[in-house]
Amino acid sequence: MPSIVSQPVAEKLTQSAIFLVVTLSPQPQTDVAVRQLCADMSSLLRGIGFRHPTRRLSCTMGFGSEAWDRLFGQPRPADLHPFIEIKGEHHAPSTPGDLLFHIRATHMDLCFELASQIMSRLGDGVTSADEVHGFKYFDERDLLGFVDGTENPSGQAALDAVLIGEEDPDFIGGSYVIVQKYLHDLAAWNKLPVEQQERIIGRHKLSDIEQAEDAKASYAHNVLTNIEENGEQLQIVRDNMPFGDVSKGEFGTYFIGYARSPARTEKMLNNMFVGNPPGNYDRLLDFSKAVTGSLFFVPTASFLDDVDPQGAPAPVAAIEDASHASAPAPSPDGSLGIGSLKGEPAHE
Ligand code: HEM
Repeated sequence: MPSIVSQPVAEKLTQSAIFLVVTLSPQPQTDVAVRQLCADMSSLLRGIGFRHPTRRLSCTMGFGSEAWDRLFGQPRPADLHPFIEIKGEHHAPSTPGDLLFHIRATHMDLCFELASQIMSRLGDGVTSADEVHGFKYFDERDLLGFVDGTENPSGQAALDAVLIGEEDPDFIGGSYVIVQKYLHDLAAWNKLPVEQQERIIGRHKLSDIEQAEDAKASYAHNVLTNIEENGEQLQIVRDNMPFGDVSKGEFGTYFIGYARSPARTEKMLNNMFVGNPPGNYDRLLDFSKAVTGSLFFVPTASFLDDVDPQGAPAPVAAIEDASHASAPAPSPDGSLGIGSLKGEPAHE
């Protein structure tokens, strides 16, 4: 049975990360550069990562909705769309982003080197929309002082939460990711009594122990982000990172959430920003302002390996004809046979 290799979306948390969001210029040569980078990504990761194998360099590359159509055409991931702005008790803006690079390692040197190599390959064809260098802060705490990431699923539960399955057969092993950059009003937050901070988060600050269910406020962050369907919890995998610029008074959390469907994260966001019921919103947002918001599809690593730098998306009609003939199947080398999606023969 050929295996499809996913990008390392459920990778263990690391000490350092770079979150790089770029937009593409309209020139056709930009598409070639991006496609070339897709095909070279695994080689770049090997080349840089092997200089310090124990430092666990990884990168996930995501594509915004418009960028996907432009670079790959049909078929497209079933739930891929631009990030939906929310105007509730607080505002979650939707901001530009064609490509996301989520670069992680135990040390910043590897992240920095990979980000530099990526940008030099993309050259003038891309503009940086946002670049955030995240760091681990003491015992996995955010800059608000709470441990962040405790309730993340792990192992098989994490894979089940983030990897697309049979619900979208063309994209099995892919994932969706939503990113948002939050800036905190730390002075105001730190004026709150710790008991009130704990009511907002739903956990005890020092011990990180969850508050008892009947003691939690209805607006607690871990109440509003705990969502269920048919009695089952719908989970996502987060790898939030603190970042900041002390002399500018900037203190933030970069939120990143992977899920097999963006609807999960969108539901959580809706509960936070509009409230559940409406008006019962997340008080964390009184102290944390979302300044960016983008949604990306994360194809498998096998898909990236198979991208043809010169290939153009096949016309939609041709793809539809082909898909009536037979459903795309993973090729023997473990890829999704993406060559066939570009109007080229699939691997035999
Ligand atoms: C300012 C931004 C944010 C901060 C500082 C923050 C912080 C935290 C903290 C401290 C926890 C408790 C520990 C843990 O289980 O990780 C937590 C839990 C959680 N957060 Fe956030 N978070 C932020 C934004 C978000 C967003 C935007 C989402 C989803 C759209 C989200 C989803 C979750 C989920 C699912 C949990 C686990 C809830 C549970 O089942 O107990 N967070 N967050």
